[in-house]
Amino acid sequence: MADRRPKVWVSQPLFDDVVEQLGQHFDLTMTGDVTRYTPQTLAEQLAHVDGALITLNERIGAAEIANAPQLRAIANVGVGYNNLDIDALSAAGILASNTPDVLTETTADLGFALLMAAARRITESERWLRDGQWGQWSFQTMLGADIHGSTLGILGMGRIGQGIARRGAHGFGMRVLYHNRSQLPEVTEAEVGAQYVDQDTLLAQADHLVLVLPYNAASHHIIDADALAKMKPTATLINIARGGIVDELALADALANGRLAAAGLDVFEGEPTVRPELLALRNIVLTPHIGSASQATRRAMVQLAVDNLTAALGQGPDAGHPPSAINADAVAAVKTGGATVGGKKIGDAKR
Ligand code: GLV
Repeated sequence: MADRRPKVWVSQPLFDDVVEQLGQHFDLTMTGDVTRYTPQTLAEQLAHVDGALITLNERIGAAEIANAPQLRAIANVGVGYNNLDIDALSAAGILASNTPDVLTETTADLGFALLMAAARRITESERWLRDGQWGQWSFQTMLGADIHGSTLGILGMGRIGQGIARRGAHGFGMRVLYHNRSQLPEVTEAEVGAQYVDQDTLLAQADHLVLVLPYNAASHHIIDADALAKMKPTATLINIARGGIVDELALADALANGRLAAAGLDVFEGEPTVRPELLALRNIVLTPHIGSASQATRRAMVQLAVDNLTAALGQGPDAGHPPSAINADAVAAVKTGGATVGGKKIGDAKR
């Protein structure tokens, strides 16, 4: 057992030259084609490995790890980790990690791109032009909303929210309001150019509202019909967080009936399926979860996930200390007998 090279499995094709670094320390199994796993095929893949590098499309909970006695580490390529049941992983002593920071600016760029595209009707204009309708032009064709000088609202003020605030305040001269579980230190508020307000004030005053909060039970459908009714009918709503934060049917209804001007969505509740009610609308910009999708950033995410997995399995310069572990304390507690393996209490605070 002492001489056995740990086995690691990579769930999707990523960047081969980066992933192959794992071969220095481990028996590496890569996946050649994009694959959609059922809970059962995922469980089969995890059954005989020590570590796995996975994407947001792989949902891992108690059932998927039930027959994986060797599994010690899961490295998620993504900052959000609502695809992982952290309580179940912690209880089984499995160290989970994610890829924060390296994608902050790229994702903030995409948030701003969606905001501009929705408010200025960019994709709608392009469809109209391609459909040969330019001959129907009038002076009031494709009137949208201004971005410069308007009020930008940000719900959720982590690293990506702060990146969006900077772009709005310093790049576009916007008044930036935000709401978050906790208020930022004054010095950070001054640096990003944002002012803390309560949620209702945010909804009522934003000309453009960007959602950047983590998805969990508390944020599920936080933007529902009531919240939408508090927004200006001229406002734009942008979601780059997780689809479940917005009640998509209520949003479609508000957009179809003039109670909200436009929306931009990069994330959807039933990904990769998009509701027909959203697809039918002209005043919405839809992108397939591409927030972090630049060459450099996607490579950096895979590199960080490789470093996390290597360290979690006790190898490399950070051996034992993955740069961005999610549940290190809970796993340590399990290992030292401070928590009950299989119990449901571990990690509750994180959900
Ligand atoms: C993307 O949504 C991520 O969480 O990295």
